[in-house]
Amino acid sequence: MTTDTTGPPPARLPEVVGEAIGQLAIPMSGTALFQWDYDSHDEQLLRLYRQGKQRQWDADEALDWDHHADPENPLGLPDEFLWIAGSSLWDRLPPADRVRVRTHSAGWMYSQFLHSEQFALLAVGKISQTVPALDAKLFVATQLMDEARHAEAFNRYLSTKIGVRYGLSSSLASLFDQIMREARWDFACLAGHVIVENMGLAAFGQQRTQLQDPFARAFAGYVARDEARHVAFGRIVLRRYYPELADSELREREEFALEACWSLRDRFVGEEMWEALGYGAEECSAIARRSPAHREFRRQLFMRVVPALREIGLFSPRMQDGLAKMGVLGFGKMADPDARYDDDAVADVVDRRELAVRQRDIEATAQLGGAEPASGSIGGRR
Ligand SMILES: [Fe+2]
Ligand SMILES: [Fe+2]
Repeated sequence: MTTDTTGPPPARLPEVVGEAIGQLAIPMSGTALFQWDYDSHDEQLLRLYRQGKQRQWDADEALDWDHHADPENPLGLPDEFLWIAGSSLWDRLPPADRVRVRTHSAGWMYSQFLHSEQFALLAVGKISQTVPALDAKLFVATQLMDEARHAEAFNRYLSTKIGVRYGLSSSLASLFDQIMREARWDFACLAGHVIVENMGLAAFGQQRTQLQDPFARAFAGYVARDEARHVAFGRIVLRRYYPELADSELREREEFALEACWSLRDRFVGEEMWEALGYGAEECSAIARRSPAHREFRRQLFMRVVPALREIGLFSPRMQDGLAKMGVLGFGKMADPDARYDDDAVADVVDRRELAVRQRDIEATAQLGGAEPASGSIGGRR
């Protein structure tokens, strides 16, 4: 095992599908706000800011990039994660095609995360300019670095372990376009922190316990720890801001949030991937929407998003009606599983969970007779 992880990743050209090369240009609008009040502080935001400063990690150092990923299933995705598994189409596929679905599902999913990390980098840069409160500007500066580290790490993961990359999915592209065009700072926070970040938190939370590859689980654990802070930030700033708004202004936000929810619920189904694999985008997307894996993705997403919408005050009868049509209103009665992240416990809770997962990894390895890694972890170095 080599120890030099600071150099460039090994040269390996990934298979590129769709518009993975090039750029997307979106005109922006907004007002840059300087804040001269350096003495009024929001203690909760300052706590998150401090955690953001203290809990930076470096993917080069924290993870063991020498880990060998299975080329036929680089993330160790259990078949229950595949959106067409269990369908008659899946049953007809020969083993080689199933391997291709596993590899492309990993490539498509991690490509969408990579693009979302870069989007978050742009969106929080905009929020730092336009949000009025200084403590909020300070926090998003830490988030900017988080998202840069995430983008770097996902890019390295795709290049060195997965080997397949995709362009940005159309459902995310139209959402990102709307967010960047909108001048009002809270729209980026609403769609970015409350909805897209929760999608990341839901996905990484699931992955860090259910992926079969220990490196992938460790990777997801590190990213989830940061995303929990980002989600907490959105909830804190918006639940203070939205009570100040008039009903007509709230209505606009509710419509925007509902549209973003519909888009992730119905359109985030891997259309481009199924097209590229040649299985029929329409047929596979329909199978994906009905699949237990997508149902679980929606459950994990809306069990976080709906309580958050209620908490920030976007829960009028018209909003509840919209959520009911989507079939997710029931989640509003649940406690947000991450609600405790908005206080001092934010990262500690995630740390404890991560530690527990790692401990299970270590014990499982020991039972198999394998040597316990010197660092005390399997996929990670810390
Ligand atoms: Fe991120
Ligand atoms: Fe984030």
